[in-house]
Amino acid sequence: MNIVVLAGGTSTEREISIVTGTGVCKALRQKGHNAILVDIFCGLEPVDWDEPFGDKDYEVDSAAEYMRSFDDDIEEIKRTRRSFFGPNVLELCQTADIVFMGLHGSNGEDGKVQATFDLLGIRYTGTGYLSSALAMDKGLTKKIFLMDGVPTPKGVSMLKENCTRDIHDLGMEFPVVVKTCCGGSSVGVYIVNNQKEYEDAIDGAYSYEDEVVVEEYIKGREFSVAVVDGKAYPIIEIAPKQGFYDYKNKYQAGSTVETCPAEISPELTEKMQHYAEAGAKALCIEGYVRLDFMMKENGDMYCLEANTLPGMTPTSLIPQEAKVLGIDYPDLCEELIRISLK
Ligand code: DAL
Ligand code: MG
Repeated sequence: MNIVVLAGGTSTEREISIVTGTGVCKALRQKGHNAILVDIFCGLEPVDWDEPFGDKDYEVDSAAEYMRSFDDDIEEIKRTRRSFFGPNVLELCQTADIVFMGLHGSNGEDGKVQATFDLLGIRYTGTGYLSSALAMDKGLTKKIFLMDGVPTPKGVSMLKENCTRDIHDLGMEFPVVVKTCCGGSSVGVYIVNNQKEYEDAIDGAYSYEDEVVVEEYIKGREFSVAVVDGKAYPIIEIAPKQGFYDYKNKYQAGSTVETCPAEISPELTEKMQHYAEAGAKALCIEGYVRLDFMMKENGDMYCLEANTLPGMTPTSLIPQEAKVLGIDYPDLCEELIRISLK
């Protein structure tokens, strides 16, 4: 197949998206596909336009290097260009059999690109525009989970203009978690123990976005579960050696112990997988998704969020879960394409 692997973009997760895209593109080439790595915002390495997918000497690492060469120019390009799409990106996507979405965060994971692709007749991996938009918004996700009986920490979302600086007015007690409503990779997430920390966290979170979520802090163990084509994968436990699963612990090798399948009872496993499938269904997610959970010592579990374009580097959480099922990384990348074309 001729496949465009889209990555990069302008979100706070640009860097990790390039790593996802590089891994996926290499894996798909290993499986014999004509996959090319394209930065949605900055465009692609110059290719032979008569045959953009046919270059046998194509180097994925060199395409990734080309993407990174724009890292310092993004703000300037934003100022001087109207379209979010880089030169020739949409044309190239239209000629591909499918676009593999290696994007993370805003303008990629939030449904806008998916809606554009729907209108242009471009096929892509992952869920559609509506479920992407719902899952991107942690405040709306919370409301939908509560309506559908998926346990989630008690919390509220607040716009900057009517933000409450006293958590007791929100019916909560410290500790709480303050996070951006639509962020990813834990950028703009704060665990808050007192009023001073709360004020700082609110200011920090609003520096990224105009809407934040404040929710009760769940003390316990952290887990993640993929739901692929409606069925839950094995659960993975994530235990950061220090602090919580923040940006550093997510991406610095060795800073977190990840155990799959998670060492919890069959009953709790079944329950969490059930809630993961129910959470995906509540948000109308098709294709694949990864849901993150916290579980208290007494076994009470809470779904924190759904990630519709989760990390897909060879060592990311879903590839680790797939491995337990005997599905290796290149096969998983192909499987995600297969279910998206159904
Ligand atoms: N937002 C990151 C990439 C994840 O959920 O894996
Ligand atoms: Mg997330």
